[in-house]
Amino acid sequence: MHKYQVGEEVKVKIIGVQPYGAFAQLDDGYVGLIHISEISDKFVRSIEDYFKVGDYVNTEIIELDEAKHQVKLSLKRLTNNHRRFAKTQTYKRRPYHCKRLSDFPLLMANTEMNIQTEMNKGATTMIKIETTNKMDLTSYQDQVTSIDNGMKNKTSEGSDYLGWYEYPNTFNEKEIANVISLAESFRSTYKILVVCGIGGSYLGARAAIEAIRGLYPQDQGMEIVYLGQTFSSNYTYQVLKYLEDKDFAVNVISKSGTTTETALAFRLLRELLVKKYGKEGARDRIVATTDKDKGALKDLARLEGYQTLVVPNDIGGRYSVLTPVGLFPIVCAGIDAHQMLLGAKRCYLDLVDPSLKSNAAYQYAVYRHMLYEQGYKAEMLVSYEPNMAMFNEWWKQLFGESEGKEGKGLLPTSAIFSTDLHSLGQFIQDGSKILFETILKQNKVVNDVTINKENVNLDELNCLAGKTLSFVQDKALNGTLQAHSVEGKVPNIIVNYDTMDAFNFGYLVYFFMRSCGMSAYLNGVNPFNQPGVEIYKKNMFKLLGKTK
Ligand code: PA5
Repeated sequence: MHKYQVGEEVKVKIIGVQPYGAFAQLDDGYVGLIHISEISDKFVRSIEDYFKVGDYVNTEIIELDEAKHQVKLSLKRLTNNHRRFAKTQTYKRRPYHCKRLSDFPLLMANTEMNIQTEMNKGATTMIKIETTNKMDLTSYQDQVTSIDNGMKNKTSEGSDYLGWYEYPNTFNEKEIANVISLAESFRSTYKILVVCGIGGSYLGARAAIEAIRGLYPQDQGMEIVYLGQTFSSNYTYQVLKYLEDKDFAVNVISKSGTTTETALAFRLLRELLVKKYGKEGARDRIVATTDKDKGALKDLARLEGYQTLVVPNDIGGRYSVLTPVGLFPIVCAGIDAHQMLLGAKRCYLDLVDPSLKSNAAYQYAVYRHMLYEQGYKAEMLVSYEPNMAMFNEWWKQLFGESEGKEGKGLLPTSAIFSTDLHSLGQFIQDGSKILFETILKQNKVVNDVTINKENVNLDELNCLAGKTLSFVQDKALNGTLQAHSVEGKVPNIIVNYDTMDAFNFGYLVYFFMRSCGMSAYLNGVNPFNQPGVEIYKKNMFKLLGKTK
């Protein structure tokens, strides 16, 4: 009888093809799975592009369960290790150089910091989780599997709003093509788009636009201006003044159609548009994203003849960035919506298996839940990239509104380092031990800046001559991690991602949505309602004399 070994190259027969991978047969009754993430580092749109039943292919064994006669197999590792294929002609796509886990520039395991990278060994996701506190997730597996089933089969509490779970796999391509073509026509016609919305109706788009384009974009996208997210007369006055002599269009976004901040701002924008372009000109420049059939904004759009886009019935605001809610402004800003949806789909496929050995979204959900159970009251999401500030805001709404109820939940807070090390750093290091940090760590540098030598070395920084800012940033990150986790005793979770582009943004937001759904259910709350938000509105309406 053949004794298999991890790392061994084996020729296998494909016996089944599923959306998440291909099943294979080995000798001696062994069966194996080539998970979609083990085929290629490139996006695998369809398993059928690579395998068909009956093919013989060479693969590498990456996990072995002798008792069950089961193996996990990898095509991409073999490709990179040996560049050998039994039937290269089978593969329409040529696998490219694979980042093996050991090459992934994660934080190095460090005895002092005791970084836990154990879970990464099995992680099939493009995102990898590390922690500074050793925690064993295994006792949560049954609960996680059952919650995942509830979300997938829409049997959990709040199931009417679980449309986002399958969305990357099931969205209506024709509808998305219409959104893209309308946005492209706006982009080629007008200079500025005013996004008029609040909360989930605007944060996702703003997060994407700032994270991907940067804060001083020099691209072909429209300039994006935000209104409808505040009652501030100073801010509103300034935006309206700014728009007065500019060529602008408006995307008003409100699922309910009755959100006061948005509705008031939209009145003012309409007034200005009509004044500048007349009633018909104004109509051409307005797109209303709202409910398919009902609500005040839908009625107004019908009355005025505005172009409309639909907020899916079964997706709440904070889960809606990948729908027309987010995609119209995102495409107006010149970002590739297809790539974003591909990224989300890749994440969806990577998370098919709820196993805590491989599912990084659920690993993250359980880690933060365990820290909450240990008494931590707040989670600080930290990015080292200033253009991620609005991503942090999106994340805060996602987790805050989904989990903070029934007297439970972590306070989601955020920071941009190293900027905020000069303000909040003191509290994190030395203050009350109420929080843990989650570091969003971008591992690929896109644009770097080199430090030059100067003749006068008064600042004594010539020691860094020839080095780059990303080198300095890396040392700042590692030094801070050590300071906070070791000396400061603040637990850290590290969420490693590759780079920030449309594909990775789609991947990351879907990753956090899945983590958030899991995490809220672990806490025993319905992630999709927000009863607490209504109370300020009720009081405000009373004070305003608004009766309905
Ligand atoms: O996530 C949510 O549900 C909220 O943030 C809403 O998106 C926000 O209150 C705006 O609501 P609406 O789209 O109805 O104007």
